[in-house]
Amino acid sequence: DASDIEKGTYPHYMLKEIDEQPAVLRKIIQAYQDENGKLSIDQETLEAINRADRIYVIAAGTSYHAGLVGKEYFEKLAGVPTEVHISSEFGYNMPLLSEKPLFVFISQSGETADSRQVLVKIKELGYPSLTVTNVPGSTLSREADHTVLLHAGPEIAVASTKAYTAQVAVLAILAALAAGEKGNEIGFDLVQELGIAANAVQTMIVRKEEMEGLSFDFLELSRNAFFIGRGLDYFVSLEGALKLKEISYIQAEGFAGGELKHGTIALIEEGTPVFALATQEAVSPNIRGNVKEVGARGAKSCIISMEGIEEEGDRIVIPAVHPMLTPLVSVIPLQLISYYAALHRGCDVDKPRNLAKSVTVE
Ligand code: G6P
Repeated sequence: DASDIEKGTYPHYMLKEIDEQPAVLRKIIQAYQDENGKLSIDQETLEAINRADRIYVIAAGTSYHAGLVGKEYFEKLAGVPTEVHISSEFGYNMPLLSEKPLFVFISQSGETADSRQVLVKIKELGYPSLTVTNVPGSTLSREADHTVLLHAGPEIAVASTKAYTAQVAVLAILAALAAGEKGNEIGFDLVQELGIAANAVQTMIVRKEEMEGLSFDFLELSRNAFFIGRGLDYFVSLEGALKLKEISYIQAEGFAGGELKHGTIALIEEGTPVFALATQEAVSPNIRGNVKEVGARGAKSCIISMEGIEEEGDRIVIPAVHPMLTPLVSVIPLQLISYYAALHRGCDVDKPRNLAKSVTVE
């Protein structure tokens, strides 16, 4: 119940929830550790993942963006082919399914009607399901075969922040454990890397003043903004754009860096803000090339890179983390920049117009 949760000294729930993210990540590491400090989760859930010949992730909004990151984990860590679908699309236009699908519902609230109608349909077809949710006992949790909890604590602000990072972390743990259950090594110590990521998130949230300055500098006068990235950075750019548009009402779009030139670059004018994520070493030269392309058309770019692969002029450099875990950290400056943009425009940060925290109608 929202009225039970105190904002304390915070002006908005959103800012409080942004700040809670290092603690949430640490809580998740704890919650999924056994007495020997090894990651663990109930065996049946892991077996359900490993029995599947394909995972279908079903989600909406921010949870869909976390699902896109999750696909990388299920495929690259667990070796299970994965598709990610918007629930309202899947519900009315089901793709051809594999023989042994597992449906993974990602939902902060566990109540989203678009996702639930898919769960009802696939249950009728007799397929297994797993819900990743923040709310124990929620509809999607009760009705699915398996549940994995986010442990993010109540999220009150309509714009999701800590639930997103919790989803990404929990999906990484699930995928790594599924790999382990099959006897496969993921090649790194996930507990340690998540701890490093939690510290990096902490480092970013104390840079609020700097993020407020960047927000003012890049967004004060703009009516639109673009977010670009490649690979994992592309998925984070989608989330960055959603965050900005939902609370500040600045028209914002996220694009795969290479796709911009196939149409959207027509919108770049003198001073158009472009936030470019460059945390993935393999595609860093490519995204930097895209920044030059938009720069030549007048765009004002803010590059968000990572220690170790940063270049002079990058406006935000996140601390070095495992390349697969960068979404946990690179999203933080985007959350803060959006928060301050909304604040400066006098928007109702926690309750943006036309939006609901949980949409229980289709
Ligand atoms: C609503 C909220 C979004 C959220 C989406 C999915 O539209 O405004 O912030 O991402 O629902 O919610 P869920 O609870 O299923 O993650």
